[in-house]
Amino acid sequence: AVENEKILKNVADDIKNGKYKNICVMVGAGISTAAGIPDFRSPKTGIYHNLQKFNLPYAEAIFDLEYFRENPKPFFELAYELMPGRYMPTPTHYFLRLMNEKGLMLRCFTQNIDTLERIAGVPEDKIVEAHGSFQYNRCIECKEMADSGYVRHCIETKDVPLCEKCKGYVKPTIVFYGEGLPSRFFDCMYEDMEKCDLALVIGTSLLVHPFADLPEIATENCQRLLINREVVGDFSERESDLMVLGDCDALVRQLCKYLDWEKDLDELVKA
Ligand code: OAD
Repeated sequence: AVENEKILKNVADDIKNGKYKNICVMVGAGISTAAGIPDFRSPKTGIYHNLQKFNLPYAEAIFDLEYFRENPKPFFELAYELMPGRYMPTPTHYFLRLMNEKGLMLRCFTQNIDTLERIAGVPEDKIVEAHGSFQYNRCIECKEMADSGYVRHCIETKDVPLCEKCKGYVKPTIVFYGEGLPSRFFDCMYEDMEKCDLALVIGTSLLVHPFADLPEIATENCQRLLINREVVGDFSERESDLMVLGDCDALVRQLCKYLDWEKDLDELVKA
């Protein structure tokens, strides 16, 4: 813990000194667990460890396009639980907003589909939802867009939405295994990582590519900082890598304290 404090103090000092002006944040499900949304891979609590009732051939099948085509029901049952609108942002989400408001954030790359970054007040143009979101819905066969009110109603009543045109299954534009990421991800990835001076990775196992390429392509001039419960990805392979292990909300709060942002953070969390 003493080591964590030292690292965070140094990073805060560097931010105050103007060393980092183009911070790219890379986040995953770990930043939303405190909001009540389970992550995927944590032992016991992760979604992938709690899918027995669906009798899936393997856990990730719930987000697999081929499996969905055969049996869309498990996904929609899970979607009912994950649907945005029932959860509140965490202190970590508000910290992202603060970083942007202080003019330090170049981009927030998220793997999460809960839209809590937006709800916390990070502007849309700063966010890259790498794994899509529930905002739009398409037929998986003819790609026709479907009405989101209709899809929401189906999810709420545990029904499977069907395409008006071809009767194929409709699914939210969440990126499944077997699907490509939005082009915005690749556009921003290469441009932003050229400029990025601090790559801040929070609450992700970095097990899913191409998202996990982001910190890997950080340039030599970019400092990498991990805030997570465990070491992930290729962190520690670079001599300059910084890692603070523990609960992200607590560590982010500590960082805010060293930045003299604790009051700002509290105001956002309370509001
Ligand atoms: P994972 O569940 O794989 O990883 C979550 C990480 O956050 C783990 O390393 C946890 O230890 C850590 N963690 C959890 N709670 C934390 C907390 N309060 N403080 C600090 N660390 C915490 O989730 P992701 O990396 O987001 O993709 O998963 C990546 C992708 O895999 C998801 O976007 C999803 C999934 O398959 C698709 O569905 C396409």
